[in-house]
Amino acid sequence: MALSWALAALSLLPLLDAQSPGCANLTARPITNATLEQISGKWFYMGSAFRDPEFNHSARTIHAAFFYFDVNHTDDTILLREYLTIGNQCVYNSSFLNVQRENGTVSKYEYGKENFGILLLTKDPELFMLGFSLKDEQHKGLSLYTRKPEVTQEQMTVFHEALACMDLHKSEIAYTDEKKDLCGPVEKRHKEERLKEQEADTALG
Ligand SMILES: *[C@@H]1O[C@H](CO)[C@@H](O)[C@H](O)[C@H]1NC(C)=O
Ligand SMILES: *[C@@H]1O[C@H](CO)[C@@H](O)[C@H](O)[C@H]1NC(C)=O
Ligand SMILES: *[C@@H]1O[C@H](CO)[C@@H](O)[C@H](O)[C@H]1NC(C)=O
Ligand SMILES: *[C@@H]1O[C@H](CO)[C@@H](O)[C@H](O)[C@H]1NC(C)=O
Ligand SMILES: *[C@@H]1O[C@H](CO)[C@@H](O)[C@H](O)[C@H]1NC(C)=O
Ligand SMILES: *[C@@H]1O[C@H](CO)[C@@H](O)[C@H](O)[C@H]1NC(C)=O
Repeated sequence: MALSWALAALSLLPLLDAQSPGCANLTARPITNATLEQISGKWFYMGSAFRDPEFNHSARTIHAAFFYFDVNHTDDTILLREYLTIGNQCVYNSSFLNVQRENGTVSKYEYGKENFGILLLTKDPELFMLGFSLKDEQHKGLSLYTRKPEVTQEQMTVFHEALACMDLHKSEIAYTDEKKDLCGPVEKRHKEERLKEQEADTALG
């Protein structure tokens, strides 16, 4: 739920109204191997604004979240491993996302339905955004992800400008707070387990 895919039906092109110059850059672009390279690895979920009531609610239950994208360039899938802090516990989950290179979207099956998010990149390689249902007043939404657990002022400005392009307001944002993260120990345990597996593999090989 952290990435808030559920219920987010994507309404198609045209994407965002290019009223201001900053908005022109906020369009879906075809996803290339270089794009996939750029979004690989660890990210922090910093916040989102959702008109969809259920999304809005679910975003507000997440106090902190980070995740890993393991990209497969051959079959255009992304293994998502997410660490969500919900209430006073860490919830770990893994699943696969599909990449639609042509239309610049990533999607996830959830609740028997494929939900699409438009990948929005900017000049800053340390952030990306996902746009949902951009043209649907009742359901549109935007989420912000950064490489570091703190958002810089510039990054926040990028996010705020993108929200403005979608006619969403700053006051609609649900932020996460890295200080509330409870998943550190779980991630540490997973890293140790992987290391052991690798060592075992090496020993066998
Ligand atoms: C839009 O993208 C172009 C090309 O990447 C860049 O030169 C320009 O500065 C960007 N404009 C804004 C407002 O980010
Ligand atoms: C989102 O949730 C907050 C807090 O519950 C509420 O104040 C706000 O009106 C909700 N927004 C929408 C669009 O449902
Ligand atoms: C992207 O990567 C895959 C797997 O490495 C490769 O088969 C494919 O040719 C690459 N595509 C381009 C356009 O370089
Ligand atoms: C990527 O996908 C291909 C095709 O499904 C598969 O053969 C390969 O093992 C996958 N690579 C990794 C690293 O999972
Ligand atoms: C984990 O992900 C799967 C597949 O998306 C989903 O069905 C399941 O409800 C998730 N579990 C939790 C605890 O979020
Ligand atoms: C994106 O492209 C895929 C594959 O061509 C297609 O199945 C999907 O419906 C498209 N999604 C959107 C939102 O355009």
